[in-house]
Amino acid sequence: MPLDLSKRWFAWAMWRLAPRYDALLADRKRELLSQVSGTVVEIGPGTGTNFQYFPRGIRWIGLEPNRHMHPYLRRAAKSAGVAVEIRQSRAEDLELNDECIDTVVATAVLCTVQNPIRVLQEVRRVLKPSGRFVFIEHVAGERGTQLRTLQRIIQPVWSCVADGCHPARDTAELITQAGFRPVFLDSFRIPLGPASPHIAGIAVR
Ligand SMILES: C[S@@+](CC[C@H](N)C(=O)[O-])C[C@H]1O[C@@H](n2cnc3c(N)ncnc32)[C@H](O)[C@@H]1O
Repeated sequence: MPLDLSKRWFAWAMWRLAPRYDALLADRKRELLSQVSGTVVEIGPGTGTNFQYFPRGIRWIGLEPNRHMHPYLRRAAKSAGVAVEIRQSRAEDLELNDECIDTVVATAVLCTVQNPIRVLQEVRRVLKPSGRFVFIEHVAGERGTQLRTLQRIIQPVWSCVADGCHPARDTAELITQAGFRPVFLDSFRIPLGPASPHIAGIAVR
């Protein structure tokens, strides 16, 4: 499928499917996203499922490289009453000044970005001292498990249908090694087949 058509298809698929995924994470999102404050940058906000959890009064900037997500994002923001600034940039290059952001949010994004180490460096760079990186991500199964083997086997096909997603990515390890201190991280599972293992937490700059 040509790239732009596949991006359009993925945006439509996310709009249809994200609410179901979101329902499985609603309690975690309510707990974590209701605490954000100040200037909030959300990387890869997709179709905007997180707007419903944010408190009033924040300044929200969304960095969403897939332009076909933008109409869904605007619609979701309007119905949630959130003022938005949407940019079509990638999280590997945040195009923001150093130490100017209070909170960076990522949900189900570090599995998809091309260079997660670079993204985490960028997140640290733009956060103010004591600024927070709030994340909920699906991650690799434990080493040596059948689940992890399965995640590796299905990787090429999974990546094709899910916009480059890596089911066997060690995102917990990447976050804890990225230089944030402290990192509060909780591991849990939801009923989502090969993408069951999840982490949620806050990493402080
Ligand atoms: C699985 S979707 C998750 C969307 C949304 N965060 C959610 O929880 O419903 C992954 C999102 O990351 C975006 N994305 C992919 N690569 C990216 C990158 N390098 N930088 C920022 N966002 C990216 C995709 O366009 C997509 O919107």
